Amino acid sequence: MSTSATVAAALGAARARGLERLDAQLLLAHVLGQSRSWLLAHGDDALPAGHAAAYGALVARRAAGEPFAYLVGQREFHGLTLAVAPAVLVPRPDTETLVDWALDLLQGDLRDASAPAVLDLGTGSGAIALAVKDGCPRARVWAGERSAGALAVARANAERLALDVRFVQGDWWDALASATDAPVFDLVVSNPPYIAADDPHLAGLTHEPLAALVAAEHGLADIRRIAAGARGRLRSGGWLLFEHGWEQADAVAAILAQTGFGRIATRRDIEDRPRCTGGRLGA
Ligand SMILES: C[S@@+](CC[C@H](N)C(=O)[O-])C[C@H]1O[C@@H](n2cnc3c(N)ncnc32)[C@H](O)[C@@H]1O
Repeated sequence: MSTSATVAAALGAARARGLERLDAQLLLAHVLGQSRSWLLAHGDDALPAGHAAAYGALVARRAAGEPFAYLVGQREFHGLTLAVAPAVLVPRPDTETLVDWALDLLQGDLRDASAPAVLDLGTGSGAIALAVKDGCPRARVWAGERSAGALAVARANAERLALDVRFVQGDWWDALASATDAPVFDLVVSNPPYIAADDPHLAGLTHEPLAALVAAEHGLADIRRIAAGARGRLRSGGWLLFEHGWEQADAVAAILAQTGFGRIATRRDIEDRPRCTGGRLGA
């Protein structure tokens, strides 16, 4: 990209490299620290050389398929601005379905608990745990994660957003083993890895951590482990909610039924696909 390019020419060059118009505009707005409407009003302005080079580098990364959120270092999720980095999955709008279901339970079935204990397993950027705490301040929210890199991102998000979440590191339920003050939870939510290793969609997800995406047993191994380990950590009458692939609802419902859950239900995502399945322990 030429260092003497105008704003309009830089946007045109990005489009010629295959970027969507919105991505091209938002990346340039990010580099310049301006709004999209400013770009439209200043199409003939010359781009300073440093900005042109920085924009060119971001355009090349976006054209190579890197998620937009990694390039700008943040993502909106359930009304929160979360910092994201390649150590974490970029939070998806689909996952807001899981947060909404958790908040509905906290205002419904669990409304009589004055300080309900909620656990997010596999918290990544902290998206679910932080959105639940934000939406239900009376909840005592814990979050588990195996990846130290992801946990650092989640902790920094919690601190910046001033949301009080307790983070623990380890393999699913084992993350709680050293926390002697861990409560018995009223509600556990998880968006675990659920993509099968041979799923062709993985080809389009090469920039995000594989450990956040892929699970054995046709994508169901982690869901099985979490459901099987819930008893003792989740109180009888407490809820376990999973996000899963849109073709996995029946399989997840069967796993929940086999591990002692009742009142099993499925919720659909914003694209009307079955996306979350959960149940109540014991009945
Ligand atoms: C699909 S990502 C979800 C991240 C975040 N909750 C979200 O919804 O954006 C799954 C997360 O589970 C974590 N994870 C994978 N295997 C794990 C394990 N055995 N124990 C704990 N966390 C695990 C990954 O590091 C990743 O952060």
